[in-house]
Amino acid sequence: MTDHELSELAKAASKKAYSRYSDFSVGAALLTKDGRVFTGCNIENGSYSLTVCAERVAIFKAVSEGCTEFAAIAITGGAGGDTSQPCYPCGACLQVMSEFCGGGFRIILTDGVHTLDELMPKRFGL
Ligand code: THU
Repeated sequence: MTDHELSELAKAASKKAYSRYSDFSVGAALLTKDGRVFTGCNIENGSYSLTVCAERVAIFKAVSEGCTEFAAIAITGGAGGDTSQPCYPCGACLQVMSEFCGGGFRIILTDGVHTLDELMPKRFGL
């Protein structure tokens, strides 16, 4: 699975976004260390705070299927479905990544490849 292929899966997942309130569609494709891919999209709610980001949908799908070891995640998203600008993961999603992933976890955006250490250098941990 190349970074480009993973990004294409994220883009396809963003088409499924339920983003009627923000019109900001996000897709994520999570690659497990054993080569499986779990995708997710953002799912909004009329009770706004119940919205869940695409990254967490992908991660929770994977964990609920017994996969907890991840190699990379590709993320695409933007207003009105425009994915030309990088869509950086929010702090909540970075914190969820840090539960399962080390600092070298690869985060693939449209402006290049980042790491968890780079995007969240000081992370909460018990
Ligand atoms: N969103 C994500 O799916 N991932 C992020 O990391 C940041 C934001 C979603 C949540 C909401 O549905 C929309 O983007 C606008 O905030």
